[in-house]
Amino acid sequence: ENKLSIAIDGPAAAGKSTVAKIIAENLSYIYVDTGAMYRALTYKALKNDVDVNDENGLLDLLLSTDIALIPGDKGQLVFLDGHDVSEVIRTSQVTSSVSAASKHRGVREEMVRRQQKLGENGGVVMDGRDIGTYVLPNAEIKVFLIASVDERAERRHKENLSKGFPSDLENLKEEIALRDKLDSEREIAPLQKADDAIEIDTTSLNIKQVAGEIMKLIKERN
Ligand code: C5P
Repeated sequence: ENKLSIAIDGPAAAGKSTVAKIIAENLSYIYVDTGAMYRALTYKALKNDVDVNDENGLLDLLLSTDIALIPGDKGQLVFLDGHDVSEVIRTSQVTSSVSAASKHRGVREEMVRRQQKLGENGGVVMDGRDIGTYVLPNAEIKVFLIASVDERAERRHKENLSKGFPSDLENLKEEIALRDKLDSEREIAPLQKADDAIEIDTTSLNIKQVAGEIMKLIKERN
């Protein structure tokens, strides 16, 4: 069997990472959470008082930053300059600044370079916003996951509560809608379905069903 490259894109909180992890585990592929890389940079910028709107400042910071994605028992761990930041990169402070930090051409070029290196040997499941369009344009499998804002907010709300995190449903709806708007309207590599991506509306599907649909696409291909 060929080692495929699998691109999973879509708006915020569409279940991309959960599904990508399941697929990667099923196939013993590498899983790359590209959103975690942008989050890690944003976290470091906030900590070092680098303005997320300052492209040069942010790029300088990124060039001296090591971001490592390491598989762990409970999913992927994210290490920033050797420190585990897996949880702190999910806070609302980071979430509300990450779209601004991700809009810059220089920052994206460097991130894409790193992501392509991680995927260079195939056997990779990568999730993000621009994987099918820019990072892995030749991926054999491209999926674009969508769901209504209400559905995505509800899911994230339940997930937060189950983890014991504070959560407000109305805030989540606003945050998700705003992030989608910023990510879709930016000039460089906006959130967009690749022409050859298969769109799956997950609104009335559970995670298992979505993963099953994607596994079917992969079997057809292999
Ligand atoms: O996937 P996640 O929601 O963690 O991504 C966080 C943010 O990182 C997105 O809202 C977007 O601004 C940025 N991002 C991006 N390109 C990617 C992945 C994430 O611009 N490939």
